[in-house]
Amino acid sequence: MARKNIAAGNWKMNKAYQEGLDLATAVVDGTETTDTIVIMSTPFIHLQSVVEIAKSKDNVKVAAQNCHQAQSGAYTGEISVGMLNSIGVDCVVLGHSERREYFNENNTLLAEKVKTVLGAGMQPIFCCGEALPTREAGEQVEYVSNQIKESLFDLSAEDFSKIVIAYEPIWAIGTGVTASPQQAQDMHAAIRNLISDKYGSEVANNTSILYGGSVKPANAKEIFSQKDVDGGLVGGASLKADDFLAIVHSF
Ligand code: PGA
Repeated sequence: MARKNIAAGNWKMNKAYQEGLDLATAVVDGTETTDTIVIMSTPFIHLQSVVEIAKSKDNVKVAAQNCHQAQSGAYTGEISVGMLNSIGVDCVVLGHSERREYFNENNTLLAEKVKTVLGAGMQPIFCCGEALPTREAGEQVEYVSNQIKESLFDLSAEDFSKIVIAYEPIWAIGTGVTASPQQAQDMHAAIRNLISDKYGSEVANNTSILYGGSVKPANAKEIFSQKDVDGGLVGGASLKADDFLAIVHSF
């Protein structure tokens, strides 16, 4: 898949049903049909309706925020890729730091989930990122590289090419502290080099790498203008249509 500019909104556990539909409708109405891909990653209850709302614009896609690694079975409370696929969901966010921290998701489990999502013909948006102590120790590149190697480097080049990566430093998520454009660029370049070493420069150059962590209308343009930053995964600012649309128009 060719490298794209992507603005992805991650609603997390926010919005009652109708609130979510209103937000999705405003986002779709305010999005022009351009080469920029707009993704809404919604709670499960909104997915089916948001898929319908998004149908009017080819460049608007819908993502789940998680799925189970198994195809089906006795996993009370979980959602399978087959279920997501059957309602037309395009992508699944995997390995968000909140899933890693509060739900014990580790690199090995995420490797399984990535394969399950790819097997269902959907696109994984794979999140990685270091906590503050790791950055303070200057070990962020090694840490993030390890997350990517352990969860993704078993894949064939063909499968790897279908993945979107989201670099989200944990110290910048929901804190109002954004990584500087240079910090984002440095990590994104390191990730692209890592991919190039493993899969070659063509695959690396075609991989979309998003930045996440306190992306706002006021800082999106500068971050997105970095050479190796292909867009953003946006939490808080994706909950207001105007803010999210301003970010969508920041490329
Ligand atoms: P934030 O969240 O934009 O609210 O910092 C980003 C994310 O967790 O994806």
